[in-house]
Amino acid sequence: MTGAAVVQRCEELARFSEDPDRITRRFLSPPMRDVHRVLGEWMKRLGMQLRVDPAGNLRGMYAGRDPSAARLLIGSHVDTVPNAGAYDGVLGVVLGIALIEALAKRRLRFGIEIVAFSEEEGVRFGVPFIGSRALVSTLNNHLLSACDADGVTVAEAIRRFGLDPARVSEAIVDRRHVFGYLEFHIEQGPVLESLNLELGVVTAIAGQNRIGVTFRGAANHAGTTPMHLRRDALAAAAQWISMVERESRASTGLVATVGWIDAKPGVGNVIAGEVHTSLDVRHASDAERHAAVAKMLTQAEAIGKERGIAVKVERRLDQAAISCDEKLVKRLERAVSSAGFEIHRMVSGAGHDAMVLAEHLPVAMLFLRSPNGVSHHPDETVREEDVDAALQVGMNFLSLLETQGG
Ligand code: GLV
Ligand code: MN
Ligand code: MN
Repeated sequence: MTGAAVVQRCEELARFSEDPDRITRRFLSPPMRDVHRVLGEWMKRLGMQLRVDPAGNLRGMYAGRDPSAARLLIGSHVDTVPNAGAYDGVLGVVLGIALIEALAKRRLRFGIEIVAFSEEEGVRFGVPFIGSRALVSTLNNHLLSACDADGVTVAEAIRRFGLDPARVSEAIVDRRHVFGYLEFHIEQGPVLESLNLELGVVTAIAGQNRIGVTFRGAANHAGTTPMHLRRDALAAAAQWISMVERESRASTGLVATVGWIDAKPGVGNVIAGEVHTSLDVRHASDAERHAAVAKMLTQAEAIGKERGIAVKVERRLDQAAISCDEKLVKRLERAVSSAGFEIHRMVSGAGHDAMVLAEHLPVAMLFLRSPNGVSHHPDETVREEDVDAALQVGMNFLSLLETQGG
């Protein structure tokens, strides 16, 4: 299969969306069923065994020659942010299937399991990695009882998709039966393009926090309440958001984002009484990230105190930075150079399913150049020739594993 055909398949999957004129596909939403159906057809044609595990991950098994040999996982996610591009996540799954197709019925000593993770973005429940967490047994009752904006829990969403949340442990991978995980992903940033390179070998993934911060003041009339007698929750949130930005600009390698805000009652002539916000903080060093989070939350408290606003913090995620497996990284580098491409090692600022699996398994990741560095946006794209390059590297990687082991 060519890079052009892989790109075409990603575009075909992009048709399955919750919104008619843009790509939005959240955890176990109806269009995810269509994605499963089409991916499933492609995998079945290659003689793969399919199942949807109880966390909604679609899994296709391509058996190896040696049934006792540990298998390799290749995957990425099929959920998206609202108004997404067609490649974030989906490309990694479609590329994995293309590699199986490129084997042309040849069986390797080890099996390959393709995993289309049901959730990586954290859009529906404010917590990312629901799919991959099921594989490493951290999809626990606390997470299963998290609610979306309509009050539907993760467990109920699983049930509505026709699956049984009481059986999520069936998604767990046994470390003894899997020797590694490989993920292809667009870079989602401008680095490879600026270096005029097709591919990047990921060595580490920055850790991240996701935190909900609520400011509670007092709603009142916008015309009659003098400025000095207000407890304006939105003004407090705005002051804090500026501080978050200033803090991150002042610290190398730190990125922090308040990407969502909900002001209540949310009308022009009423002082906002309650404001909900999201805080996303990332850094390659966990210590620096934790220090930054502590400082930002202390600042929120101080602003609240000064303005008579109560501040409530809900810590949703503290995902540690991870290193990719040195041995698999070396194999990937060899695969890159023997395909004739320059090796460029890089740290991922974006979160990936690989970082969750890294808690239990050796992982490796290959980045493909993102034209214009654009992602989480409909203009997100990938060059067909870079997909060809990734396919070639993937085949070299599988050959190295076949001849030299994991
Ligand atoms: C996932 O795309 C993330 O890094 O937020
Ligand atoms: Mn992604
Ligand atoms: Mn994403």
